[in-house]
Amino acid sequence: MSENNYRELYVTEALEHVDIINQTLLKLEENPDKREHLDQIFRSAHTVKGMSATMGYDQTKELCKNIENIFDKIRKKETKLSSNLASALFKCIDILQQMINDEKKTVNLKPYFNMLENPDKLVQLDNSESMSPTQLPTIRVKMSDLDSLVNLVGELTISKMKLDKIVSEDGTGKSKHALMELGSMITDLQYQSMKIRLVPIDTIFKRFTRVVRDTATSLGKKVELHMDGSKIELDRTILDAITEPLLHILRNSVDHGIENPSERKTSGKQEKGNIWISAYHAGEQITIKIKDDGKGIDVEKVKAKAIEKGIISKDEAIELSEDKALDLLSIPGLSTAKEVTDISGRGVGMDVVINRVKDVGGDVLITTKKGEGTTMILTIPLSVSIIGGLLVNVSNEKYVLPLSSIITTLKIVSNQIKSVHGLEVIEFQDKIVPLVRVAEILEIGNKTYNKNQNETTIVIVEKGGKQYGLIVDSLEHKQEIVIKKLNSSVDSSDTFTNATILPDGRVALILDPGLIVRR
Ligand SMILES: Nc1ncnc2c1ncn2[C@@H]1O[C@H](COP(=O)(O)OP(=O)(O)OP(=O)(O)O)[C@@H](O)[C@H]1O
Ligand SMILES: [Mg+2]
Repeated sequence: MSENNYRELYVTEALEHVDIINQTLLKLEENPDKREHLDQIFRSAHTVKGMSATMGYDQTKELCKNIENIFDKIRKKETKLSSNLASALFKCIDILQQMINDEKKTVNLKPYFNMLENPDKLVQLDNSESMSPTQLPTIRVKMSDLDSLVNLVGELTISKMKLDKIVSEDGTGKSKHALMELGSMITDLQYQSMKIRLVPIDTIFKRFTRVVRDTATSLGKKVELHMDGSKIELDRTILDAITEPLLHILRNSVDHGIENPSERKTSGKQEKGNIWISAYHAGEQITIKIKDDGKGIDVEKVKAKAIEKGIISKDEAIELSEDKALDLLSIPGLSTAKEVTDISGRGVGMDVVINRVKDVGGDVLITTKKGEGTTMILTIPLSVSIIGGLLVNVSNEKYVLPLSSIITTLKIVSNQIKSVHGLEVIEFQDKIVPLVRVAEILEIGNKTYNKNQNETTIVIVEKGGKQYGLIVDSLEHKQEIVIKKLNSSVDSSDTFTNATILPDGRVALILDPGLIVRR
């Protein structure tokens, strides 16, 4: 094994132990008397110490020794795991993680050792050193290498579709059979190459317990974070994109949602607040739900802030429904916090949440109830590059609608279309659903549809929890499509951000229902 391989192995294993220490310390805080937790941490710290010594990383070894000593003292009941000591230990574990990742990092460890000795005394640490990056116990592959692999598989899929078309026109039985075999292998390859980009959501969830704990402690609140669905896997790019939004949501829940213990008691709640974060599959998408049992978003305050900023008028504010008022949170600067602190007050948090999630093709739904809490539901695509799509015809052009947003398709007779306040609507499953004529939105002339035509084809889509009926000329078929990102200059109206290449080599634009219904 080369030097490099040894280092890789060291990093992987040491980080796994750091992870164990982190997780077990959180558990130990809840159950300070659990001897097995103590032993586990002691063992892991000891292992990392040994490994670092072998590699010749003296600083890392020294840090582990100090961490190990503390746990030894706790074990011997010479010291107690106070909240401050736990915080100090967490900070040491963070720096340990950074030192493992970067062998060249030199840190002045003195303040850290002081902190462990006197956890109740405030010690200034360089802030850049106390943030922990997400770490994965896996081998490292350059993201760009993975991207090109996935791209190549995409190209392969398109070539295969072209071949499909040729063979279906004038191929022999043998060639059809060979192509079928090739096809199933390409599908496997596609699946595998997508799979290596998937990482369990766990990798970021693990960090959240710490963030919630640290934020709550600094605000003098008690909050428990409940997590569910941590085994769900997501594309790395998407996971990276949603990490920051989720952190903002959690910080908001702790800071603005969950009340002080005394406030909670007065309103008949448990002193300890709760935040639930869960992830689950919903078709081609992943849903992440973050719910708190705090006091809810003060919609009136948000409105007042929007009036103050000149975003809406007083009259508009009175008319504005609660849903629409919550939409205002996507505008930067709408903080209701009285002062700017480390945790909040800039009013950019929700702006980041909503826009980041939309960037990766997702959506955010906010619901809140005064005194009961707030729920944010993020729907995000599983992966960025291959999706299921429905090909539709509009004015002699083919477009793709992502299957993930489609509820169903309908053919109706034209007199079922009603008009409400000048808007075309239909009744669908006892609901009034507004209709959108795609050809009109896209401003494509030479409309082949005829408003008096007997039959109208409608695709019911859902966006942001609301349903819309998209009127198209006709439906073709479902198909897996490889997404090609368009340059933003291609279409200045921003209705299209993506396209795909059809088997016949033509480019079809992918319609984003969210963008269409907003226009
Ligand atoms: N879980 C929640 N419970 C109650 N109110 C919330 C919650 N989440 C957000 N809010 C309200 O929405 C407002 C906007 O949140 P946002 O994160 O954009 O700003 P902020 O938290 O005040 O400041 P920062 O940009 O520094 O995070 C908050 O000021 C708060 O009034
Ligand atoms: Mg915030």
